[in-house]
Amino acid sequence: MSIAIFGGLGHVGSWVAHDLAARGEDVVIFDAGSGDYAALGLDHLVAVSDRLAFEPVDVLDVHTLFERIRAHHGRIEAIVWGVAVIAGPTFAQRPFRNIQINTVGMLNALEAARIFEIGTFVNLSSGAVYGDLPGGQTEDLPAKATDLYGATKVANEALALQYGETYGIDVRNARLYFVYGPGRMPSRMHPLYRAMFGALEGLRDVASPSGGDQALDWTHVRDTAKGIVALLDARNVSGEAFNISSGVAVNHRNIMQAAERIAGGDHGMSIGPGSYFLRGAPLDISKAKQLLNFTPRFTEIEEGLRDYADWINKQR
Ligand SMILES: NC(=O)c1ccc[n+]([C@@H]2O[C@H](COP(=O)([O-])OP(=O)(O)OC[C@H]3O[C@@H](n4cnc5c(N)ncnc54)[C@H](O)[C@@H]3O)[C@@H](O)[C@H]2O)c1
Repeated sequence: MSIAIFGGLGHVGSWVAHDLAARGEDVVIFDAGSGDYAALGLDHLVAVSDRLAFEPVDVLDVHTLFERIRAHHGRIEAIVWGVAVIAGPTFAQRPFRNIQINTVGMLNALEAARIFEIGTFVNLSSGAVYGDLPGGQTEDLPAKATDLYGATKVANEALALQYGETYGIDVRNARLYFVYGPGRMPSRMHPLYRAMFGALEGLRDVASPSGGDQALDWTHVRDTAKGIVALLDARNVSGEAFNISSGVAVNHRNIMQAAERIAGGDHGMSIGPGSYFLRGAPLDISKAKQLLNFTPRFTEIEEGLRDYADWINKQR
């Protein structure tokens, strides 16, 4: 049997694929990107490639999606849904397209689960479903979107749960938060991420317009993936949502300064005042700790940054 990971070439999905393959599972990656893991800088997938199959699929191309799932009919036992246009200042520039990818794309994958009788669906959701509610958010709070991306996450959770209820699919929602680390170069990201982590890559003089007065629970991608795999493995959690993050909020300027220190000194980075994202932090992760035995490793940001620096240095 195998596990299908939609968005398996992405930052989070690729580490979920890695962790599952590394323990001997067969994984099928469905993604619109190229299947050349090395060229994408996904060395962790190269290392486990004998356990991976790759299906190049645009999730909005429903015909190809169904054909490629059918090619694995009877062998896929679970879907991890990790395709998304993620939160950031550019999301609102192409709202219709981005909402289609996030939400209609997920519906296409749910339809495939319904028709091909795939029993488990793990939806990679987000703490964005809490909007700007203050930190310590627990999973039982009512949903509150504060931007279009958040609205796709709220809608997706509701749609996935109702598919589960109506068609007997075991749906689980993983509420992730602010992922950083190996697999994604800072230069590929939005200005706040570049200002915070860019020194590790040798970037200089990045100015984020805002975010300096905000502390969010940035989460090392290995911890994010670990939590998702724990949720996939869990029994008797159908229909449940779990916060999966570091659980520790750190001020953005402190992260930036720590990264500059690790990179050898001042890189001319700056972060303007106020908040960059309309979000509260940290998420309350006690439910995941208790029911999934989830223990994030990188709760000290310096340790996470050093691990990230090691990976970046290997790419250069
Ligand atoms: N990164 C974060 O900080 C964060 C925080 C909270 C939640 N999440 C959620 O976690 C999930 C994974 O996020 P990520 O950071 O790995 O994102 P990512 O951008 O790194 O990966 C997304 C993947 O989806 C693929 N994709 C995009 N459009 C596609 C399409 N039309 N058809 C097929 N594939 C397509 C991309 O090629 C990419 O590999 C998403 O659901 C995201 O909303 C991420």
